[in-house]
Amino acid sequence: MSTGSRYTGLIEHYRDRLPVSADTRVISLGEGNTPLVQLENIPREIGKDIELYIKYEGLNPTGSFKDRGMTMAVTRAVEEGSRAVLCASTGNTSAAAAAYAARAGITAFVIIPEGKIALGKLAQAMIHGAVVLQIKGNFDVGMRLVKEVASEAPVTVVNSINPYRLQGQKTAAFEIVDELGRAPDYHCLPVGNAGNITAHWIGYCEYAHHDEGEVTAACGFCEGASCAYGGRGVTDTRPVMVGYQAAGAAPFMRGAMVDHPETVATAIRIGHPQSWDKAWKVREESGGWFDECSDEEILAAQKLLTSREGIFCEPASATSVAGALRDIQSGKIPEGSTVVCTLTGHGLKDPDTAIKQCEGAMQTVDAELDAVKDAILKHLA
Ligand code: F0G
Repeated sequence: MSTGSRYTGLIEHYRDRLPVSADTRVISLGEGNTPLVQLENIPREIGKDIELYIKYEGLNPTGSFKDRGMTMAVTRAVEEGSRAVLCASTGNTSAAAAAYAARAGITAFVIIPEGKIALGKLAQAMIHGAVVLQIKGNFDVGMRLVKEVASEAPVTVVNSINPYRLQGQKTAAFEIVDELGRAPDYHCLPVGNAGNITAHWIGYCEYAHHDEGEVTAACGFCEGASCAYGGRGVTDTRPVMVGYQAAGAAPFMRGAMVDHPETVATAIRIGHPQSWDKAWKVREESGGWFDECSDEEILAAQKLLTSREGIFCEPASATSVAGALRDIQSGKIPEGSTVVCTLTGHGLKDPDTAIKQCEGAMQTVDAELDAVKDAILKHLA
């Protein structure tokens, strides 16, 4: 039980809006409560009057937004007596599952596409003691295997098809409204499985005034029943939801599944999104849209954030900013708007891609005063 003001994670903080009871043993690493940082330099440089924020989800305990969902999914798995969790992953889910399983004292099995997950994420899954199963197949194949195995082995699936995942992830929307005092006009996210864009919409809808019992959104939890949180709105506003995909892995742009997704943003190298129907509903209900960004645009946005704002996110995360900047520049997102872009994962997750982008950024000099001084003065000249 937390007393005083120590922050002890999103389940404690939003307990009355999450599916836990008074005796639930909460498995937490202090996730959530991430910074909402207003960008200063980029809006000025592009000459647009826009209030542009990033929600820095890379600052969660394992370095991605997955921790929000994993604290809920593992808490409920443990409560239901499960001894093991299982997921397919492009990396971040496996890192989070491994950490929260370690915390809970249960086993994590993770299925990852061989050679296609960033080094930091692999290190996390391994060091936390997950059983790592590499497959010669992509994430979508792994996901199919997870569903098949789950019906034949005593494991709890902790991919976002587990409804508790979305319940945890909806709290990011709560935090944004709590800080801004209202919903932003636009909320931009990178889209892979489309679980996170769905979770945000669930959160925004719950926080918007509606009647008890009314189903307000693409909520996988209350679906067909009633909204358990109706009548407790805190704002009259909801954002337009905008989802950006990597061009080589953009089923929402093709209007159909993609069998061989390819992108430098390995986190969203997904061709068969699990929350397909829900995400279309989010688009429709919020009046939003999907769009795609090339790998070049994604890497350019990553570089822009690091060099102009001091914010380091992984490539997949930069997709939200790449797309938003394009739509701000074209006027599709009009001046005067308040825009939030979610940066889903930390840049340190994928050091290889970062270093590859910075060729020539390092020089070797003699370990002598003159050599170091020359290098500095030459640079300043
Ligand atoms: N950004 C990052 C950094 C991710 O790791 C993911 C998904 C997404 C965006 C997309 O979120 O799937 O909810 O639309 N990563 C999953 C994983 C698939 O296995 O870590 P989504």
